[in-house]
Amino acid sequence: PRSVYLSRHGESQYNLEGKIGGDAPLSERGQMYAQALPSLVKDNIGDAPLTVWTSTLQRTIQTAERLPYPKLTWKSLDELDAGVCDGMTYDEIEKAYPDDFASRDDDKFNYRYRGGESYRDVVLRLEPVIMELERQENILIIGHQAIIRCLYAYFHNIPQSDLPYIKIPLHTVIKLTPMAYGYTLPIDAVDT
Ligand code: F6P
Repeated sequence: PRSVYLSRHGESQYNLEGKIGGDAPLSERGQMYAQALPSLVKDNIGDAPLTVWTSTLQRTIQTAERLPYPKLTWKSLDELDAGVCDGMTYDEIEKAYPDDFASRDDDKFNYRYRGGESYRDVVLRLEPVIMELERQENILIIGHQAIIRCLYAYFHNIPQSDLPYIKIPLHTVIKLTPMAYGYTLPIDAVDT
């Protein structure tokens, strides 16, 4: 059976600084993940064909750089748009927009950043990606925290209210093997 592999990008400079959004390059640790990824993937997939999908943001492109497979960039895979909060830390957001910060905590799935997106918005924009994913063979998606949460929730039927809290660690590949009736749990999540 074919597999769908999901990974967040390697650690970025913004991850290190606790800032959200942006288009920062990988940190040193992130680059090490990008270096480790080719053999990690190869050990799992062998010689089977694979296509790698990234977002248009450089942290996903840099993470995929050394992977010797055809690649496709999708704007729809870009991270949830945090609007006016893009580039801020959670502490800064709480101070600048305390009411918004509380609303997000109340209903994280539906909360829409000012000038940005909600998880609900992201689920909608991922629809074409998921449709294409259903038609494809082996695909590795190098994405972002909110994006991987939405994709993971789709394949595992996780309710909307839980979706924004799914733990998707950095530097881990999640393997999904779609079956005729739904999807198996990850066979192995590989951590480096
Ligand atoms: O911190 C990394 C990040 O990908 C941000 O760019 C994004 O806003 C955030 O995670 C999404 O996670 P949460 O919805 O829990 O804030």
